[in-house]
Order: sequence, then C-alpha cells, then structure tokens
Amino acid sequence: MATALFESTIKSLPLLGRGKVRDIYAVDADKLLIVTSDRLSAFDVILPDPIPDKGRVLTAMANFWFAKLGHIIPNQLTGIDPETVVAAGERDQVRGRALVVKRLQPLPIEAVVRGYVIGSGWKDYQDTGAICGIALPAGLRQAARLPAPIFTPASKAEAGDHDENISFEQAQARCAAMLPGLDGAALAAQARDAAIALYSEAAGYAAGRGIIIADTKFEFGVDKAGTLHLIDEALTPDSSRFWPAGSYREGISPPSFDKQYVRDYLETLDWGKKAPGPRLPADVIEHTATKYREAYERLTGQKLA
Ligand SMILES: Nc1ncnc2c1ncn2[C@@H]1O[C@H](COP(=O)(O)OP(=O)(O)O)[C@@H](O)[C@H]1O
Ligand SMILES: [Mg+2]
Repeated sequence: MATALFESTIKSLPLLGRGKVRDIYAVDADKLLIVTSDRLSAFDVILPDPIPDKGRVLTAMANFWFAKLGHIIPNQLTGIDPETVVAAGERDQVRGRALVVKRLQPLPIEAVVRGYVIGSGWKDYQDTGAICGIALPAGLRQAARLPAPIFTPASKAEAGDHDENISFEQAQARCAAMLPGLDGAALAAQARDAAIALYSEAAGYAAGRGIIIADTKFEFGVDKAGTLHLIDEALTPDSSRFWPAGSYREGISPPSFDKQYVRDYLETLDWGKKAPGPRLPADVIEHTATKYREAYERLTGQKLA
C-alpha cells in the first residue's frame, strides 16, 4: 500500500496555515506553496486516518482542469516546480502533491454551481420549490437535471464552522464589504459567470467520459490589479459530486466517486459529527483510495503517475 502524508513538515518556508486538506506556506510576498495532504474531511471534520495518494490525485486532477479551462479565466498557476522552492530533504513531501501559486486575495464566497437537484439543493427545493431563492420548475425529482446550471453561492465559513448558502445579492454585498477599493459587486458577477462557464465546459467533457458532475464549488481570488483568477482546487472529488453515468437515474441519490463512500460508512457509526473523527477500518481506507484513483483515471484516461 502506498504511504500517506497526513501533514507536511516543511521547515524551509514559513507556514501560513493548515486548511482541512492543504498546508499553505509562503514562498515570497506574491507566491504560495500549497501542499495537498492525504487528509480527508467529512462533515467538516478532519479524520485521523489519511487516504494514500489522495493528495496526488487531487493535485493531478486540478492541474488537468487548469490546463483544459485556462481559456475561460486566468488561474493561480505560476508554472514553478514545487521541488525548486523547498530544501533538498523536503522534496519528497511536495512531489506530485504541491503547487506554487500566485498569492491572491480570495473572494469571501464559495462559488457553487449546480447542474442537478441533490444534497442541500434537493432539501431546499422540497421545502421551498427553489434552490437558494432561484425558482425552479415544479415536479423535479431527486437528482433531476436542471434546465440550466445555477449559481448558488455560500459564505466561506471560518475554520470549524459550516458554510451557509446565501443569495447572489448577499454574495455581492460580502464581496463589496470585504474587498475595499475594488468593485466587489462586479467581481461577484464575474465570478458567477466564470463559474457557470467552467462548470458547463467541464460537465460536457466529463459526460463524454461517463461521469456526471452534479455540482461543484470554485474559489476565486483577485490580484492587485483587480483581475479575477481561479484559485484553490477545481473540479476534484473533494469539491464536486461525481456520479458514474451508468448508475444514474432520477428519484434516487446516485452512488458517487467522491467521499460519499466514507460518509456512508460514518453514518453507520454512533458519532456526533464533531471532532475528533473516528478511525477508519483498513478496508474503508483502501476502498476510498481506490475510488479517488478511479475518478482520476476515468476522467483523464491516464494512469496516476
Ligand atoms: N492562490 C491562492 N491565493 C490565496 N489563497 C488561496 C489560494 N488558493 C487557495 N487559497 C486558500 O487556501 C486554503 C486551501 O486549504 P484547504 O485545506 O482547501 O482549506 P479549507 O479547509 O478552507 O477548505 C483555502 O482557504 C483557500 O481559500
Ligand atoms: Mg478547501
């Protein structure tokens, strides 16, 4: 079994912080090193067991999409090899799992795009006939495809909190309040249009590979000139719902390539979904690792190097 990296320990660069999955270091005033660990978070709790190769899968998949979608909007990539910005003895911690990115100011929203009625969207639709206030046709069944993809932003919660769905107007107001000196409302509109375009092209490509991208979350950041960029990760099983097209049908919650498998296992436990998370059995770890690799190989048609 491949070895897994729970946490990077780079000493040659200042550590700026650890997210649920990524460790972020400063390379200089305008570049970051983002190391994608093998940590898995479920229900916003980091589980104690890492998933072998998960960080490499996420990094390879995000790179695949950055290359494919670069014509829609500029992205964070610098093209700098992460192995060149750390000490020689630290190279194995970044190989295949890290990016050197432009250090941008993140918009304070999660740019969620939904193409199907599932998850919190399905719940919202059942309660209100709309998703995040966007009116939808009556009579949609669970997992139904929407007439057109919709933008349903969420607030980016502080560590430990859950993100909350907000209206587009609230997203504009947040961007205006938290990006002084910039036209936050216009940036939010630009992020919405970019998110819809990115999702649409990616979903069209994935459909040809037998994968439905039901929904996804993007993050955007701005440089000093106010130019919007795609940042963070994009269109991975952590940030999206991927369904094998073969087992999709309306009326059920389709099985997926993402961490749904772990979530289903966790639902069998008597666990309050608060930290600390439970240990995972070896077979659940192995199966999850396989799911991540499978998603990559099916989507890209390539073996993970
Ligand atoms: N290019 C970038 N510039 C600045 N911040 C970024 C960039 N790319 C990603 N980030 C931030 O780095 C963090 C990534 O770590 P992650 O583990 O995904 O965090 P989270 O727990 O918030 O999901 C996020 O807070 C994201 O907003
Ligand atoms: Mg994240």
